[in-house]
Amino acid sequence: MAALLSASAIALVLALACLAVAPGHGALQVGFYKGKCNSTDVEATVRSIVAARFARDRSIVPALLRLQFHDCFVKGCDASILLEGRGSEKTANPNLSVRGYDLVDQVKSALESKCPGVVSCADIIVIATRDAAGGGKQYTYTVQTGRRDGTVSLASDAVRNLPGDSFSAAQAIAAFRAKGLSTSDLILLLGAHTVGVTHCSFVLNRLYNYNGSGKPDPAMDPALVSFLRSRCPQKSTANSVIALDQATPAVVDTGYYKQILAKRGVLKVDQNIASAASTNATVKALANGGLSFPALFGKAMVKMGAVQVLTGSQGQIRKSCRFVNK
Ligand code: HEM
Repeated sequence: MAALLSASAIALVLALACLAVAPGHGALQVGFYKGKCNSTDVEATVRSIVAARFARDRSIVPALLRLQFHDCFVKGCDASILLEGRGSEKTANPNLSVRGYDLVDQVKSALESKCPGVVSCADIIVIATRDAAGGGKQYTYTVQTGRRDGTVSLASDAVRNLPGDSFSAAQAIAAFRAKGLSTSDLILLLGAHTVGVTHCSFVLNRLYNYNGSGKPDPAMDPALVSFLRSRCPQKSTANSVIALDQATPAVVDTGYYKQILAKRGVLKVDQNIASAASTNATVKALANGGLSFPALFGKAMVKMGAVQVLTGSQGQIRKSCRFVNK
């Protein structure tokens, strides 16, 4: 008995020791930078820069939401999307319309002037995104920090990891599961399509020649088809932009879910999560308020912000978000 007890006690001690040294999600914490940047309040500094930008350009909200998603899904939330260079992530096709890099640079230089080499670019993305999404106040949430920056950025990783605009619900669920995110996380995070725009090139097929049929996608409301056709002429080379949420495109709200239930999803993937049996009930609950989007969206953003993070002594704190330290 005594031998048994001591064997299990040893196993417990070993397990605890492993937990203590294992780098990973557990190392992120709320308020990591408190007291670490001389007298500067890091999160307040980010907040004021984002607020100033938001006041003159509300499109910073979708820009940053997408930036965080595209960072976290490729090698984790390590700011690898910010790195310059031939063949880096930002040169990959799905990233060509990603925006917000200048805002991150602005925050980084403000913080470097207060405490050089302390605040990671990966954390700046996450804090600034929260503050932008919270532009409407209601959607604010507490973020965890303590991420470090990666040193590798490959376009091929972006192409491999970022989900496609026409993914079925099952394909999208699988892509999120591969990052440790659930079906509910997918539905909540796709709710970010409540703001921002897409290019006509992503919907031409749905408007004019769905799957080679010569007809529009029957899953799209015919009134929306004709409106979007006027914005996206078939032969035009302009590749204009159209709102992802056709009802309230500039506000973070549940309008997106109501729209997709009314067959007014713009991207095929958006429409797919409204119709698939595996996702339809959650979409309905978010649309009718049975589930609270503001609270749950914040939780899902925090969860996405913890995907494959570098912490402790991993990676580095870049001096410039665009380049690995020399
Ligand atoms: C299955 C998952 C997803 C797919 C396939 C997808 C696809 C797309 C596509 C094709 C666009 C339009 C790009 C363009 O026309 O240039 C877009 C825009 C956008 N996406 Fe997603 N997305 C997904 C998930 C997410 C997530 C998880 C977020 C954030 C949490 C997000 C945030 C946004 C935002 C805010 C925009 C508008 C960007 C702007 O106005 O500049 N997306 N997405």
